[in-house]
Amino acid sequence: MRLHVEDVGSGPVVVLIHGFPLDHTMWAEQLNAWPGYRVIAPDLRGYGRSAPTEDTLYTIDQLADDVLDTLDAMGVTRPFVLGGLSMGGYVALSIAERRPERLRGLILLDTRAEADSKEGEMNRIRTVEQIEAGGGDTSSFVAGMLPKLLASDASSHRPMVVEKVHAIMNRAPAQAVTATLLGLAARPDRTAILPKITVPTLVLVGEDDAITPPAGARTMAEAIPGATLVVIPQAGHLAPLENPGATNAAIESFLKSLPR
Ligand code: MLT
Repeated sequence: MRLHVEDVGSGPVVVLIHGFPLDHTMWAEQLNAWPGYRVIAPDLRGYGRSAPTEDTLYTIDQLADDVLDTLDAMGVTRPFVLGGLSMGGYVALSIAERRPERLRGLILLDTRAEADSKEGEMNRIRTVEQIEAGGGDTSSFVAGMLPKLLASDASSHRPMVVEKVHAIMNRAPAQAVTATLLGLAARPDRTAILPKITVPTLVLVGEDDAITPPAGARTMAEAIPGATLVVIPQAGHLAPLENPGATNAAIESFLKSLPR
């Protein structure tokens, strides 16, 4: 399906895929950060300005195909740099495995290659049941997830970021949230593809990321040939929002290091 995208600047393309349950506005500080590049940030199906579909489960591969279909429709045919945060990283790894010829670089932010544990899977299914039992009310899911996304001192140090993330999560439609939760629970383990990645890769993680902690990011970076790991200070799971300065600088030096 054709997704809504923000499409800013001109030059080599950098595609940025948002995390769950967010939308392209999480990249507000990145859209204009790198003059000389064209930054394309889609809203995945059901989020932001992209309509939900009827499916009860959105697979990660479906979300990835939506991104590729949209880029095809936009005429983006040359290899691009693909960045994804958390769920966006799962989508990026799906593309890296199934359509590696589309990529010239990969940026994995606050993400992992492993599938859910059995317990993680059960928690997602329980959350879906709770949302459905509440007639589509996502407020307790949002209230429970928000503090895990940000560094523990975020509410005192960065109240505007907390407010912004809360607002984005609140506007995610229940239909998209439940279909995505089931897709996240069903996603495959992609650790086996990490050693086969041949494009330059940057792995970036917030030092206080409680969902995909730095130790896991280090293991992932070590498994990808030649990958660079950057740990972002004063940031949790949402490094691009919590510390855009350090995140943007790390991405800029990665972009400049790529062969043209
Ligand atoms: C995300 O930020 O996209 C989510 O934390 C991903 C997940 O729940 O696995």
